[in-house]
Amino acid sequence: MALVAAEASYTYAAGTQYASDALSDVTLSLEVGELVLVVGETGSGKSTLLRVLAGLLDPSSGSVTVDGLAPGDGAARGRTGLVFQNPESQFFAETVLDDVAFGPRNLGQSDPPYSAQQALRAVGLDPDVFGARSPFTLSGGEARRAAIAGVLAFEPRYLLLDEPTAGLDRPSRDAVLSVVKDARAQAGVLVVTHDPEQFLQDAQAVVVLFRGTQVFSGAPSGLLTDPGPYLKAGMQLPDVIRAQLVARERGAQLAGISFDPEEAARKLLQARRGAR
Ligand SMILES: Nc1ncnc2c1ncn2[C@@H]1O[C@H](COP(=O)(O)OP(=O)(O)O)[C@@H](O)[C@H]1O
Ligand SMILES: [Mg+2]
Repeated sequence: MALVAAEASYTYAAGTQYASDALSDVTLSLEVGELVLVVGETGSGKSTLLRVLAGLLDPSSGSVTVDGLAPGDGAARGRTGLVFQNPESQFFAETVLDDVAFGPRNLGQSDPPYSAQQALRAVGLDPDVFGARSPFTLSGGEARRAAIAGVLAFEPRYLLLDEPTAGLDRPSRDAVLSVVKDARAQAGVLVVTHDPEQFLQDAQAVVVLFRGTQVFSGAPSGLLTDPGPYLKAGMQLPDVIRAQLVARERGAQLAGISFDPEEAARKLLQARRGAR
């Protein structure tokens, strides 16, 4: 059971003079409980990949399957939930509760208001405080969280988040990070980001896109063994990693490289003691 892209490609305006290959032969799989990151610079095809995975765009070649089903199959409805980039620009209902309840209502699920309340709680918004408000009166961070709640509410098995922390202040970003953590109890989560530092530590896999092609795919530790593709794709290794690589270059005998600053500091101190 997984959300799978197999050599999926997508060309916008195919067959016209404006044709543009946004995605070429991307292969990935997302299982329940996993966190997969998709990284790459602006225009590398990240949002296109999410639209293809969510079944909003049909791949020009290759395939996407949801638990073995075509995304358009009735039985696949509601299994994948996509939170768009800047989702807060897409509110339409008069109240936050109505907006969040739209998904479960649209899918004919049993108690949309209840699901909406649960989802608001999951993103740290008290439904008694925020439920009756107009979504257009929310702060940036609250709005982002409410938009994420709108997808959590129908309990997708595969949750796709397009730049969920971009432009958020620290408290809202932390709230989104904890939503991602909690969601993995019931869902596979795929996060698109050009600032992967905050997620790398928890991710099972990273897919690096460069001009629509997959230049790396594998465990985050693979990026440490050979950061070449990552750097070529316009990405920068997290500071904590760079510090350890520099220390190693200068002779520190590090027992492994860590994504966690505290663990990294411990290893650096150990190496220093060992060198004495
Ligand atoms: N609706 C569209 N029509 C034509 N080209 C598009 C469209 N959307 C995106 N593109 C192009 O596809 C490429 C990938 O875009 P996108 O998937 O949005 O990248 P990212 O999310 O990584 O910034 C870019 O070159 C972009 O200009
Ligand atoms: Mg994008």
